[in-house]
Amino acid sequence: MRDYEIISTLSSKVKTVCKVASCGEIFILKEYPTCEDALKEAQIVNSVAMTGYAPKVIECEGNKALYEYIDGESFYDSFRLATMTDDAQSMELLATRLSIFLQMIYSLTDCVMKDIDFRNYIVKDGRVIGVDFSQVDNGMPYEDLASAIVFALISSVGEYYDSFPFVQKLLECFKLTMFDVINEVKSKLEKVNAVARDKIDMDMLIDALARFDEKGVDWRKLI
Ligand SMILES: Nc1ncnc2c1ncn2[C@@H]1O[C@H](COP(=O)(O)OP(=O)(O)OP(=O)(O)O)[C@@H](O)[C@H]1O
Ligand SMILES: [Mg+2]
Repeated sequence: MRDYEIISTLSSKVKTVCKVASCGEIFILKEYPTCEDALKEAQIVNSVAMTGYAPKVIECEGNKALYEYIDGESFYDSFRLATMTDDAQSMELLATRLSIFLQMIYSLTDCVMKDIDFRNYIVKDGRVIGVDFSQVDNGMPYEDLASAIVFALISSVGEYYDSFPFVQKLLECFKLTMFDVINEVKSKLEKVNAVARDKIDMDMLIDALARFDEKGVDWRKLI
């Protein structure tokens, strides 16, 4: 592995993720628990990178991998800002862009992202780029859809229904209705609630989601 200087540590959960400098350029260095973990993520990233929807893999050696640094806007921050300002148009744009990224994954691999966390996506030049493929596994696209819906509901600034324009658009992009994914959403919400500090009122939320497909409903009056 080439010489590098650590600029900052971005994460040190299962793997350590650092922003590093080498030969005057910025990169992302990920250090994994095992060599297999490093190779697994680097191989997936490499297969997606040719489309421009993942960073380029610069080097992979042992349990370390060096990736292109994506200099863009955090999907998570953009989503939170849009819900805070009730900006339905931005929410719809984010949903469309996320769905394009996901369709790209489905067309290139037999896998799904499995666990959608908006912090793992960066928006650059109008496209959503994935930067964390460690959870990728076999599965069905509707699982990603349900996971993204749950993440949107729980990360909305203010009330969870502020994220509904995003959820509506995402469902539209997948050509599915809330009815199609309600059971998956419910089971994922229950998992999130089991470990959450501020518990969600599940009955109220599921009731609102169950009525999601009704036309012409003003959600704020329902809840
Ligand atoms: N190629 C990249 N370019 C820019 N930023 C990146 C890149 N890779 C990772 N990051 C930033 O570093 C953060 C942490 O990286 P990553 O998501 O891979 O690790 P993690 O969150 O610890 O892993 P996991 O989500 O599996 O627990 C990301 O959320 C993202 O903000
Ligand atoms: Mg991550």
